[in-house]
Amino acid sequence: MKKCVFMVAALALLFPAYASAMEYQHKLEANNMAVSWSIDKEQIHVKLTAKTTGWVAIGFDPEKAMQGADIIIGAVKKGKVRIEDHYGDRKRGHSPDKKLGGDNHVLNPTGEEVDGVTTICFSLALDSGDKWDKPIHAEGTSRMMIAYGSGRDSFKSRHQYRAVYDINYSTGETKKIK
Ligand code: HEM
Repeated sequence: MKKCVFMVAALALLFPAYASAMEYQHKLEANNMAVSWSIDKEQIHVKLTAKTTGWVAIGFDPEKAMQGADIIIGAVKKGKVRIEDHYGDRKRGHSPDKKLGGDNHVLNPTGEEVDGVTTICFSLALDSGDKWDKPIHAEGTSRMMIAYGSGRDSFKSRHQYRAVYDINYSTGETKKIK
């Protein structure tokens, strides 16, 4: 698979020969799971990795349990990565934006599963304008949740691990809530 790195778009445009891949600015380590990210004026670039052969996910701005969150969930099956844009349309579940009438706004999806560890990478616009996405605020404190599944690739299967954080995407500061 393509390595989980991303290009600075402007650099790539101006100096294609010198376009370089960048590492992520910040990293949060949880139980058998890590989130790395970089944020710029327009986009957030995310790498999720967890010790699972099932799905991995991040939820932006949950309101009540999983409700109200903009959820990005992905899995790798037989070398093929599938990353979907979902919405927490209830406290204990989520649905694809596409099913709710929105669209899939996941950019540059890549991923791999190696030795029982699943990694997915993607970018998102900070404000896609979709009713089923949430604007991501670079500054200040936001609520964020992460989770991974128990081994099945089905996005309908429940988590083995989940956690909630307060996070400042620009400074990289995080505080575990639960
Ligand atoms: C269809 C798949 C899913 C099912 C059936 C499901 C079900 C549940 C259930 C029953 C709870 C309450 C019990 C508990 O706290 O563990 C819960 C809580 C939670 N779920 Fe899920 N979940 C799913 C997917 C996800 C995804 C993709 C995320 C994304 C990050 C996630 C994040 C969380 C979090 C953070 C909590 C705790 C919320 C809180 O107490 O504030 N879940 N889920």
